[in-house]
Amino acid sequence: MILVTGGAGFIGANFVLGWLAEHDEAVVNVDKLTYAGNLGTLDALRADPRHQFVKADIADAAILQNLLVKYRPRAVLHFAAESHVDRSLHGPADFVQTNLVGTFALLEAARAYWVRLKGAEQENFRFLHISTDEVYGSLAPDAPPFCETTPYAPNSPYAATKAGSDHLVRAYHHSYGLPVLTTHCSNNYGPYQFPEKLIPLIISHALAGKPLPVYGDGKQVRDWLYVADHCAALRAVLARGCSGQTYNIGGWNEKTNLEVVHTLCALLDRLRPKSSGSYRDQVTFVQDRPGHDRRYAINASKIERELGWRPAHTFETGLEETVRWYLDHSDWVHQIISGDYLKWLETQYAQRA
Ligand code: NAD
Ligand code: TYD
Repeated sequence: MILVTGGAGFIGANFVLGWLAEHDEAVVNVDKLTYAGNLGTLDALRADPRHQFVKADIADAAILQNLLVKYRPRAVLHFAAESHVDRSLHGPADFVQTNLVGTFALLEAARAYWVRLKGAEQENFRFLHISTDEVYGSLAPDAPPFCETTPYAPNSPYAATKAGSDHLVRAYHHSYGLPVLTTHCSNNYGPYQFPEKLIPLIISHALAGKPLPVYGDGKQVRDWLYVADHCAALRAVLARGCSGQTYNIGGWNEKTNLEVVHTLCALLDRLRPKSSGSYRDQVTFVQDRPGHDRRYAINASKIERELGWRPAHTFETGLEETVRWYLDHSDWVHQIISGDYLKWLETQYAQRA
């Protein structure tokens, strides 16, 4: 079996659902269920004996160690993190705690487990750390995309704590020989993404008739990848990646935020037209994010060349699937929009008005 952390969040849950759709290998899913974790996403697995959910904090090394000894996974896939840049600007402490202290505790537990494995079990064990392109900082408009050797230059507390966790993972390989793999992926989108992130936020605000907040001039560039393609890349890295290596994952798909918002409006105009006018009329430019990275782009040549992975979705097909999914799953969105999230929206966007 495999052990996944953060498997009730956006990418982790997509990974677990995709994994069990393709494999019979069981999954232990360890998640603290913060505001971003949602067991409803895993409803389809409620009676599935291949899925064991454990509510726990990755910073609790003793619990993690017990789970590893009990379930004896052949791999740990580490998704759990505080993941939203804007929240990291408001409250960086949670990011230091989970992304740095939590990853450290998890590495300690994994090391204690791994050193006691024998022979092939020890040799084949893998710790797959899921990181982000944001650790590389911001690119100039004409700079080449990030590759695996691009120097780290994190700019937000989120990026800095992810960078720190990458360094710890690297050090556990070099110092102790723990067989690790690290991936750096660009911005994901798709089903089950918490509505604080750009794409689901725009969809839900559009449908609610609310302003569509675009930070600054909206010309910041992100390299978007459909979440199922990210999950397929992670399966390839786990199966064929070389211990100690890092792999950049991206969709060769750079878009300005304004292009993304306009495309979403056009899709909604077609799939759920308003009685009059276009969703574009709701676009509102708001105060920029402090220290906002201007451009991210990933050079995914290494994973394509060495592991034979390529994205299966274009931005057009992936985005239309995503919009259709949110239109068909308004109950999922309503279920996770709690009082706390409404408070966050109020604080976050009142300040930017
Ligand atoms: P998310 O915020 O949707 O989910 C994070 C999950 O981790 C939640 O289920 C939460 O409950 C859980 N969690 C948080 N703190 C925990 C703790 N201390 N112990 C146990 N569980 C805890 O995040 P996501 O978008 O699914 O991202 C998953 C991973 O992928 C993160 O490591 C993130 O840095 C990385 N990543 C995300 C993107 C993206 O575009 N979303 C891109 C590249 C990399
Ligand atoms: P986000 O989804 O928060 O991902 P990240 O900051 O990790 O890239 O934001 C994607 C881009 O969209 C980023 O440049 C910030 C911008 N953005 C807005 O313009 N308005 C918003 O309301 C949000 C949440 C993001």
